[in-house]
Amino acid sequence: MPERPDRVVLVGFMGSGKTSVGRLLARRIGYRFEDMDRRIERRAGQTIAEIFRSEGEEAFRERERQEAEALSRLPGRVVAAGGGAFARPETRALLQEGALTVWLHCDLERILARVRPGGSRPLAGNRDIMRALLAEREPAYREANVTVEASAGTPREVAGRIAELIEGRVRRRATARR
Ligand code: S3P
Repeated sequence: MPERPDRVVLVGFMGSGKTSVGRLLARRIGYRFEDMDRRIERRAGQTIAEIFRSEGEEAFRERERQEAEALSRLPGRVVAAGGGAFARPETRALLQEGALTVWLHCDLERILARVRPGGSRPLAGNRDIMRALLAEREPAYREANVTVEASAGTPREVAGRIAELIEGRVRRRATARR
């Protein structure tokens, strides 16, 4: 891990606040913000829902992998990863390269309050579907370098906690070298 990571990658389930926290965190630490889903949509000229409908989930996952690869060459970025990206081993490995990975942990109740089925997220479903998908992905999210509780607190507070963590790391390393 470099003194300051090239990228800070926010992972976690739909509705855990990756985009809103990521924007604020980027501003605070002076990095640029990148949202994987928006990059995929721009490149495809289609919304995520349209991609799922016209090409299917596997093609979407391949687009995610390509985006993770492109991002792995860009320094100074805070990346909001799509909720399923870190669950794919190849995509996860690309996202981990040179990055500090942060799992925004969020409980099911909070997720259900934030994510409605039938919206812009094709995989959002009822309580049972979401609980099962969350359980399936948790082992992958645990692979992140750090876990931050995102069930409570405003996005600004969560971003602040991550910024302090990064600044603390940098300070600790500087002190160790003296
Ligand atoms: C997905 C999460 C979405 C988006 C797509 C699939 C998932 O991203 O990538 O709808 O598999 O959990 P967010 O986590 O930003 O909602």
